[in-house]
Amino acid sequence: MSDVILELEDLHTHFFTDSGEVPAVDGVSFKVHKGEVVGVVGESGCGKSVTSLSIMQLVPSPPGRIVSGQINFKDENLAQASEKRMRQIRGNEISMIFQEPMTSLDPLFTIGNQLIEAIRMHRKMSKKEAKRKAIDMLNLVGIPRSSEVVDEYPHQLSGGMRQRVMIAMAMSCDPEVLIADEPTTALDVTIQAQILDLMRDLNKEHNTGILLITHDLGVVAEMCDRVVVMYAGQVVEEGTVREILKDPKHPYTKGLIRSLPKIHEKEQKLYSIPGTVPKVSMEQVGCRFAPRCEYAFDRCFSEDPELYDAGVERSSRCFLYDDNEEQEAGSHVESDLRS
Ligand SMILES: Nc1ncnc2c1ncn2[C@@H]1O[C@H](COP(=O)(O)OP(=O)(O)OP(=O)(O)O)[C@@H](O)[C@H]1O
Ligand code: SF4
Ligand SMILES: [Mg+2]
Repeated sequence: MSDVILELEDLHTHFFTDSGEVPAVDGVSFKVHKGEVVGVVGESGCGKSVTSLSIMQLVPSPPGRIVSGQINFKDENLAQASEKRMRQIRGNEISMIFQEPMTSLDPLFTIGNQLIEAIRMHRKMSKKEAKRKAIDMLNLVGIPRSSEVVDEYPHQLSGGMRQRVMIAMAMSCDPEVLIADEPTTALDVTIQAQILDLMRDLNKEHNTGILLITHDLGVVAEMCDRVVVMYAGQVVEEGTVREILKDPKHPYTKGLIRSLPKIHEKEQKLYSIPGTVPKVSMEQVGCRFAPRCEYAFDRCFSEDPELYDAGVERSSRCFLYDDNEEQEAGSHVESDLRS
């Protein structure tokens, strides 16, 4: 489709560590259309941040490296782009809100200098006008004493304030794509709501495509059009937010949704998926979720499942959606997975 603004195709990003090669991103493919908000969800260590850092070519190297695959942004493959070209793209056509705010703030420059530079890169403005705009942006993201903060250095601010400054910076350049890695996790609920509103405005007014990485399915429900579920470096399910929340197909997604607290239930005995995300390795055989999956059967431990069709514009990396798999297994999952 021509309105695809960002497309990952079979992306592999590996870390080469003393204890071996780690395929942290292992064949990830998905698309973001213009004006679309795509959520990426999954437990800690699933490869969400490494995927987003790969798009920006900011994977720490060594030990990490994009091994293969394409990152198509407009007419370019960013996986092959030069550092010079990436510097033009970052914070301009694509901007990113990092999970760790200190990564993107320079400790040697004041907040104002950094914001003013970002603003003037994209708009013809005098320094004075840009400073006014910088203060406006700080106000918008809920920074108190913004006219003073603008002259302070990153280390003088709290973690939550630094996070908001970074959000202001990422938004000030009207990017075509905004990648937001857990943008509001560190913030309190009121500020979180304000930031999400700002992101929504940016999306609506400038048709910005947003890749929103979060473990918070509430945020996903509120913000996203489509959802990509990641597990152990792979996409395991994809679909519209409505479909995924209403009728998850993959046993892992089902577990994630089942783990959400339910407001109307008196007894709050919270479900959690047994076990933890495995450390992925090149020797891995079989479905990565198998050791934790209540539906696992022999094939799951010896073969790698592909992404199977699981409905209209739905896919699930699970043998239970393989048409060749026994019908019985399918009905078992259909009835059970909906409970
Ligand atoms: N610098 C590194 N060196 C070696 N391995 C790494 C490095 N950074 C990430 N990894 C590997 O990549 C995997 C995915 O990490 P990533 O940061 O993408 O997880 P995540 O999904 O963003 O988790 P979280 O929700 O905790 O932010 C990790 O489990 C780890 O195995
Ligand atoms: S392929 Fe097997 S182990 Fe993997 S999610 Fe499906 S049923 Fe579970
Ligand atoms: Mg992360």
